[in-house]
Amino acid sequence: MPDRDLKTGLLTRLHERHSIVCVVGLGYVGLPLAVAVAEAGHKVIGIEIEETRVAAINDGRSPVADVPSEQLERLVADGRLAASTSYSAAARADVVVIAVPTPIDEYRVPDLSAVQQAAAAAARVMKPGSLIIL
Ligand SMILES: NC(=O)c1ccc[n+]([C@@H]2O[C@H](COP(=O)([O-])OP(=O)(O)OC[C@H]3O[C@@H](n4cnc5c(N)ncnc54)[C@H](O)[C@@H]3O)[C@@H](O)[C@H]2O)c1
Repeated sequence: MPDRDLKTGLLTRLHERHSIVCVVGLGYVGLPLAVAVAEAGHKVIGIEIEETRVAAINDGRSPVADVPSEQLERLVADGRLAASTSYSAAARADVVVIAVPTPIDEYRVPDLSAVQQAAAAAARVMKPGSLIIL
């Protein structure tokens, strides 16, 4: 399919709220973002390496103070937000947003290994025409 048609298809699905958005890393940035995107009407799948965090989120228990558990519980119950440890979810995604840690060392140089790992894992399964955001 030509690039222009892929782009039009993506924009239409986003406008019509038929899109699936993956947020990789459900921490202080990723979880509030995932909730905001789900509240906007998109289906959200969070990809997170910490199994206990995935279990808590799918149980409606928020591990992040900015996100009330009641809100998370409602979105999970409505099927608007789910979490997984598997990158296979990125195969269905229209948009993948990476929000994994980038800790700095004593020289203030960021360690980008988690970003590289997440980008490579998502790129292995993402479909043509989908959008990836770092
Ligand atoms: N917290 C802030 O106020 C803030 C502000 C601006 C920018 N940022 C940036 O946002 C990014 C995320 O920061 P944060 O504060 O949300 O971090 P965080 O540590 O709160 O959350 C990151 C989450 O990503 C998960 N994770 C790590 N590696 C992963 C991988 N390969 N695949 C899937 N999940 C993985 C971790 O288990 C964790 O739950 C960083 O680059 C940070 O510099 C953070």
